Amino acid sequence: MPRPTTVVRHTLASIVLGMVSTILSACGGGGGEKIDGTLPSTDRADTAPTPVSRLWASHADVPPPPHVHTDWSRGPIARSKPIGMPPAECSRVSTATCNTAFALKRGINMGNMLESPMEGQWGITYHSHYPATVKGAGFNHVRLPIRWSSHASTDANAIIDPIFFARVDQIVSEFLAQGLYVIVNMHHYRQLDGDALDTADGEVTVDPHVIDARFIHLWRQIAAHYQAFSDHLIFEIYNEPHGLQTAAEWNARYPKALAAIRETNPTRVVMVGPSGWYDTTRLVELSAPTDVNTIVTFHHYEPFAFTHQGAWGSPYPGGSRTCCSRDDLNQIASRLDIAKQWAMNHGHPVYLGEFGSHVSAPRVSRINHANALRLGAESRNISWAVWNFGADFGLYNTTTDAWDTLMQRALTP
Ligand code: GLC
Repeated sequence: MPRPTTVVRHTLASIVLGMVSTILSACGGGGGEKIDGTLPSTDRADTAPTPVSRLWASHADVPPPPHVHTDWSRGPIARSKPIGMPPAECSRVSTATCNTAFALKRGINMGNMLESPMEGQWGITYHSHYPATVKGAGFNHVRLPIRWSSHASTDANAIIDPIFFARVDQIVSEFLAQGLYVIVNMHHYRQLDGDALDTADGEVTVDPHVIDARFIHLWRQIAAHYQAFSDHLIFEIYNEPHGLQTAAEWNARYPKALAAIRETNPTRVVMVGPSGWYDTTRLVELSAPTDVNTIVTFHHYEPFAFTHQGAWGSPYPGGSRTCCSRDDLNQIASRLDIAKQWAMNHGHPVYLGEFGSHVSAPRVSRINHANALRLGAESRNISWAVWNFGADFGLYNTTTDAWDTLMQRALTP
């Protein structure tokens, strides 16, 4: 399955940084890999697991300060304080959206399923037992990456195939029926970013003049189609804009899609992230939304040389780079701090929509990494979704229908 985007994702800077951190790791970080599933003590020392219930509840008793959005005093958070929060990051959103941002808590990406040009091409086909499987493992939400552009007419109207809509309806409804939140996004509309298409998987080029209009019309249809769905359904405008979608392009484009969504969904929670692959360091370039029902999302794949070893197009061979040295943990923490600070400064809660590691990474290190990201996010009250349910970054074997239980427990202990 050709996955050309990953090659592009490796900016020169991240390759150099990755190599430096690989060398540093080889010179003393890492802590060694055991095969019995217990965490190496050198790794464990730095992650010092804190009971999760305490982390999620850590701000539960902090009252909202006087300057905060007026809904605060009346909202459900102020009364029931479901998981608590540092209030500054909700100063520019509605109480309902603030509540949703924190209620999402732990999630899992159902990637490689509907993000391939056709379902099943990238290793995962949906099965109706997945929602109960995900719920039973302790997750609170799923993120559902979808390549809408491959299921719509190639003209400017981009009429979405009703059979595909029915399939998405089924999947979304079955997850919602389990009481899970569902984030429906738009993934891999490759021409928007200027990426090569997955022609081997049957993806076809559209006239460049209609790309923009299709994007808006896709969202107008998706929004209208789901307007009556529960408010546990969330939209995310576009996964990891990059390439042709520079910060300037993206900051001009995303409000148009949001406006199309708002025609039929005036208050549904919508997510938007920064150009530059949703990298935390690019949040600074995002024009903060003015809409009070928006959550800002980011991704975190550091240390990149660890997470993407053995991945398609990656220069890092699989099976060697471990995680997590003290430097790795510092890097993980500093990225999360940047996101948290952005939220506090801008009054929009942030959401970590993807992190994870390729299956060819040393297994105990994968567990360490997942644990470090989860603890890091939760200690900052940031809801998250791991990448991925199955396939090459996965923690569930879709052939044997079994979790990698140590990976799963690192995320939902
Ligand atoms: C992004 C890409 C997806 C990839 C993942 C991990 O979500 O869109 O295709 O698998 O990152 O690299």
